[in-house]
Amino acid sequence: MSSFARRVIRYQRKHGRHDLPWQRQRTLYRVWVSEIMLQQTQVATVIPYFQRFMRAFPSVKRLAETPLDAVLACWSGLGYYARARHLHQAARIIRSSGGQLPRTVEDWVRLPGVGRSTAGAIVSLTLDQPAPMLDGNARRVIARHQGLPAALNASLWRAAEALLPRRDAGLYTQGLMDLGAQCCTPRTPDCVHCPLNEDCDYTRHGSIEQPGRKRSQLPHRTAWVVIVQTENGEVLLRQRQAHGIWGGLWSLPEYPSRIEARRWTQACGENLEWHEEPSLTHRLSHLELCLRPLRVRIRNSDRKKFRQSGRWFHPSQLTVGVATPILKLIQREPPPAA
Ligand code: ADE
Repeated sequence: MSSFARRVIRYQRKHGRHDLPWQRQRTLYRVWVSEIMLQQTQVATVIPYFQRFMRAFPSVKRLAETPLDAVLACWSGLGYYARARHLHQAARIIRSSGGQLPRTVEDWVRLPGVGRSTAGAIVSLTLDQPAPMLDGNARRVIARHQGLPAALNASLWRAAEALLPRRDAGLYTQGLMDLGAQCCTPRTPDCVHCPLNEDCDYTRHGSIEQPGRKRSQLPHRTAWVVIVQTENGEVLLRQRQAHGIWGGLWSLPEYPSRIEARRWTQACGENLEWHEEPSLTHRLSHLELCLRPLRVRIRNSDRKKFRQSGRWFHPSQLTVGVATPILKLIQREPPPAA
């Protein structure tokens, strides 16, 4: 029986993915961006975002020169916006230290947004240097093969290090990801066709503590959002603070209760008509957010009353980053005006 790594490499050559956009021109920059996008998002979702991002920012230099707002606009809909902020911040750090992308794991992990697993993926996939990578898929493959509970982080890293091949590190890393995505899947792994089944602890013993996250009951939060809309269809948006889940994105004025939302609209203009619209629930990584929209229609001439509250945008012509559920709300067909 050949080594664990040789079997993974043979699997990747024969059955793995070879035609993903970031596999075509395999530069450090492209692989870095793709790995950041793939951290919390599925391949199929990432592909169009990756292609758009590369057209907009074909080099780290271009990314560093671009204002954060434009980067967030390109990221809108992909979620976990701290990834885009870190990518942009890292591009500026790279620019200020000469413009060259790092070539070692130690240098990569100094950049914001790059952990040990991402650094290992970048270095092995691009430079073919042996470096361990432990994303969700690799974690499951190694945990099962070695009979380790997925929670034993330090042991898993030691195993990942020990299993690394000296040659073909790029094929090996991609092979682990492919095997985890296609064969050693979370719920019904296809052990019969798996190249690792001969000495796999999971195949032999049938089950171990299932690695991977359980969908727990998330806490709920309700936010009242106000859609102030002019006769022209423009809506009022505000930029959120730089931190937090939607940091730096533009959003609707938001209040924790209906009464506060109303109080704010009344402070901007007496006798404004407002309509409560159906709520929209959005699942974030740490909570379920229930957005309760209130739509307030104003005359174009009343825009000035809201001057200090934000900027006006037409929902079909946004040039800034807006989180997906907010975009859905402002692009919803509004009910006919009374
Ligand atoms: N997930 C993370 N990195 C990946 C890659 N390079 N290919 C496919 N899925 C991935």
